[in-house]
Amino acid sequence: MADHIQKELSEERMLDLCEGTILATVFLEPSTRTRLSFQFAMKKIGGSVIDFGPAEATSLAKGESFEDTLKMVDSYDPDVIAVRSKANGSAQLAADICESPVINAGDGSNEHPTQAMLDLYTIRQIRGKIDGVKIGLMGDLAHSRTTSSLSMALDKYNGVKIFYIAPEELQARRETLGSMRNATYQRLDDLQEVIEELDFLYVTRVQRERFNDPGDYERLKGSYVLDRASLLSHKKIPYILHPLPRVDELSPDVDALPAAKYFEQARNGVYVRAALLAQVVSDDPLV
Ligand code: NCD
Repeated sequence: MADHIQKELSEERMLDLCEGTILATVFLEPSTRTRLSFQFAMKKIGGSVIDFGPAEATSLAKGESFEDTLKMVDSYDPDVIAVRSKANGSAQLAADICESPVINAGDGSNEHPTQAMLDLYTIRQIRGKIDGVKIGLMGDLAHSRTTSSLSMALDKYNGVKIFYIAPEELQARRETLGSMRNATYQRLDDLQEVIEELDFLYVTRVQRERFNDPGDYERLKGSYVLDRASLLSHKKIPYILHPLPRVDELSPDVDALPAAKYFEQARNGVYVRAALLAQVVSDDPLV
């Protein structure tokens, strides 16, 4: 469906799939791409958007609870609510409280399922299929919700091989690895060992806001840096993905390489989220 929407939007500026419906976006953690791509997606398929705005401008700043806040948003009867919060499990909590459907737009370090959907969509667009993909996930795998959700999503396909590339302290969480059923995986700390085997390399930033001790962040933030010169020293360069934002781990000099796909990946968020919104709000059995 995202493919279909992408094609239609290349021919027409607006579609009417979600005409007359309202998306409420409640983002209680910083976001550029996820919030904006949900909002652009809903507008482009004919719906409207009410944004909760920054938490400091709401009664959360007066001490109102997350639960009461979500109960109120829900009582205005939006057709769908997209929620981001820094607490793990908050999207599930919101879904339990609200009558309207809730989409998880990132809950702490736990999950980021719509990012995983657009990551899969991008892999499929480039490679034609997801089965059999060899992908390196590199970075702060311990605190990253994107690599955790992407791992679980990739595990639904056949013959996938995941290389978790990180220093021991930033390695993939036990619960993520424990949930893998189909995919085979390997943990390592040196990208150079496997880079020429990879179809894709998915890089993430060190998640500064999730460290209890700022000293640990300072020590680990430069653990890995990908730049053009190091990539060009290899016979084969994988496609480079990144959920963005990047900090120091991915040099801007990589952007001009044909293998750099992260800005396309981010744009795909609009089509994937539009498809998801249409399926969640539509009464049309064809959607
Ligand atoms: C990610 C997130 O918020 O988890 N960004 C995004 O949604 N595209 C990645 C990150 O913040 O590092």
